[in-house]
Amino acid sequence: MPTPTHLFPNDFVWGASTAAYQIEGAWNEDSRGESIWDRFSHTPGKTHNGDTGDVACDHYHRWPEDVELMKRLGLKAYRFSIAWPRIYPQGRGALNQAGIDFYSRLVDALLAAGIEPYLTLYHWDLPQVLDDQGGWLARDTAYAFADYAETMVKHLGDRVRYWSTFNEPWCTAFSGYFYGEHAPGVKDEQLALQAAHHTLLAHGLALQSMRAVNAGIKVGIVLNLWSVESVDDSPAGRALIERTWQRDLGWFLDPLLHAEYPLLAWQEREQIAPQMQPGDLKLVAQPLDWLGINNYSRQLFDQHGQRINRVPGSEHTEMGWEVHGPGLRRLLETLHKRYPLPPLYIIENGAAFQDILRPDGSVHDPRRINYLREYISAVREAMREGVDVRGYFVWSLLDNFEWARGYSKRFGIVYVDYATQRRVIKDSGHWYAQVVAQNGIAE
Ligand code: FCB
Repeated sequence: MPTPTHLFPNDFVWGASTAAYQIEGAWNEDSRGESIWDRFSHTPGKTHNGDTGDVACDHYHRWPEDVELMKRLGLKAYRFSIAWPRIYPQGRGALNQAGIDFYSRLVDALLAAGIEPYLTLYHWDLPQVLDDQGGWLARDTAYAFADYAETMVKHLGDRVRYWSTFNEPWCTAFSGYFYGEHAPGVKDEQLALQAAHHTLLAHGLALQSMRAVNAGIKVGIVLNLWSVESVDDSPAGRALIERTWQRDLGWFLDPLLHAEYPLLAWQEREQIAPQMQPGDLKLVAQPLDWLGINNYSRQLFDQHGQRINRVPGSEHTEMGWEVHGPGLRRLLETLHKRYPLPPLYIIENGAAFQDILRPDGSVHDPRRINYLREYISAVREAMREGVDVRGYFVWSLLDNFEWARGYSKRFGIVYVDYATQRRVIKDSGHWYAQVVAQNGIAE
């Protein structure tokens, strides 16, 4: 029996993703300012093993080699982020030309290699000075962000077509201000909701300032979204799904796509609701040229409404996340039903496994290949059901600094030997290169 073939439309975009703080290193070079992740990772007890992004993959110095790697993999696109403190070491005010030059050279090299840049403005590394002034709890930060976004479009908008404002504002707000496991490490739900509102506001303000400079760019936002499911198909089970959806996913999707916070969740959170000003939600809900989705796993509840962390019979990655490709298909179909969507891009998807670099210079990671095959197939199936997905980006190009987990989790399709900074394409990287070359899975 031949296995099913999953070929994609001709113009489908295949890429890989990274983020500035996770790969660049050079944390204090060329006048880069301190970010909240420098402060956080330098604080004892905040990250696994005390790991920091001080050096990371040393991409700041090795970017030409990394662009070469992307070329070898045949990537059509590369998603990366700008470190705001490289551009504005003080968050606003005096521009640091060295920061602009770094990204400008990177963009030129990508374009010369035939790789389309997808640029993220905020992947969590807020300038520390802005945090000292209130961070995302301060409305002012949203205005600083819009200015920074405008500056970047002025300098790179002639060459970069695809822009996103935020990566995973849920994480900025909830991991950063409620669970406290990300910078700045606050643990307060009310503050998290305020931070969430200000990131949404910042997104809206930035859409305006960016488009005013260059109406030709395509601007979106990247959300972490997952399929919310229950083994219990009763009214109670369905209500739990709806409640969870509204509190976590709808809290961002509804303001962006419906210009309102989801009603039930808002009512539940009435006492701790964020402060807003009239017109905020209209600002937030300006048209998106595209929506980026980061997806890794699903959330499954048992019949008592408890989250099932280890799903019997399922494989789990090193992060403890369940491998379940059909969840991505269901997520895409649910989104398609619930919202008026712009074109979608899967901007992050991938898996951490324990990889071993062998003496012969190979890294065999069949579990990652299985993971990617399953999820990419799920994307193709959702497209057949009518969901408009235009691209897929694997997380990540390189093994890198996995936030609070430090270097203990490897997500790359390219192995990084941190002691020598040697890069080695894993089996999954070779496999993915084939997917890109064949425009899908044909095996
Ligand atoms: C996402 C982040 C990304 C990476 C992956 C594993 O939440 O956007 O930086 O850490 O998870």
